[in-house]
Parts: sequence; C-alpha cells; structure tokens
Amino acid sequence: MKPAGIVLPLIALGGLMLAADSQPNERGKQEVQHSCIQCHSPRLVNSQRLSSAAWEKEIDKMIAWGAPVRDRQLLLDYLSAEYGDLKPVPKPELSGDGTLNRSKH
Ligand code: HEC
Repeated sequence: MKPAGIVLPLIALGGLMLAADSQPNERGKQEVQHSCIQCHSPRLVNSQRLSSAAWEKEIDKMIAWGAPVRDRQLLLDYLSAEYGDLKPVPKPELSGDGTLNRSKH
C-alpha cells in the first residue's frame, strides 16, 4: 500500500481550503485599506475588539461620516472575524521608555 496515494490528495485539498479561506480575508483587508484609513490610522481599527453588532454600528457610523465603503457585508465579516471581541487585545506599541516603537510596523 502506498500512503502517498492518500496523503498527497489530502495535502492538495488542505491547500485548496487554505487558499479559499484566505481570499475573503485578503479582500477584507483591501476593503479596510480602501475605506478606513483616510481619516485615521488603521491602528484605530485593528486595536478594537468588538462584537459583530458593535462592528456593524461602527461601520455605519463611519459611513455616515463619509467612509467610502464599497462592500459593507464583506467589511463586517472581515472585521468581526479578525477583530472580534473573543480575540485578545493587542499589547500597546510602547517600548520600555514609553516612546512609540514604530520599528515593528
Ligand atoms: C471620514 C473620515 C473617516 C473614515 C473614512 C473612517 N473613519 Fe473611523 N473615525 C473617524 C473619526 C473622526 C473618529 C473619531 C475620532 C478619532 O479618534 O480620530 C473615528 C474613530 C474610529 C474608531 C474608534 C471608535 C470610535 O467610534 O470613535 C473606529 C473603530 C473606527 N473609526 C473605525 C473605522 C472603520 C472600520 C472605517 C472604515 C469603514 C473608518 N473608521 C473610516 C473618521 C473616519
């Protein structure tokens, strides 16, 4: 018996699933780039940890303030998945002496 006969298609399938999964993510990222960084740093967006309902309110507030959102649903799905309230809050970007450490970004 050749294990490769089973393993290789499984790897290929895994790769396909990863590719399919990363696509909305990439599109969501682009939507944020397009709609959400004219007025403030993206950090104001990606340092939040909000529920889906809270993101929805936030997006609608930003749209009312002039954010040029093309795909509201995509944005909502992306932000809820990436910056949902179940994820840990990121550490503040401060170095030991309290100055902003920009070298990492
Ligand atoms: C027309 C300008 C503008 C655009 C475009 C914009 N925002 Fe904002 N946003 C603001 C202002 C003004 C504030 C509040 C003041 C501040 O802290 O800078 C803010 C604050 C925020 C906050 C902090 C919480 C709050 O409500 O004050 C979040 C989260 C946020 N924006 C998300 C987004 C997202 C997501 C997008 C893209 C859909 C976006 N913003 C696009 C103007 C904008």
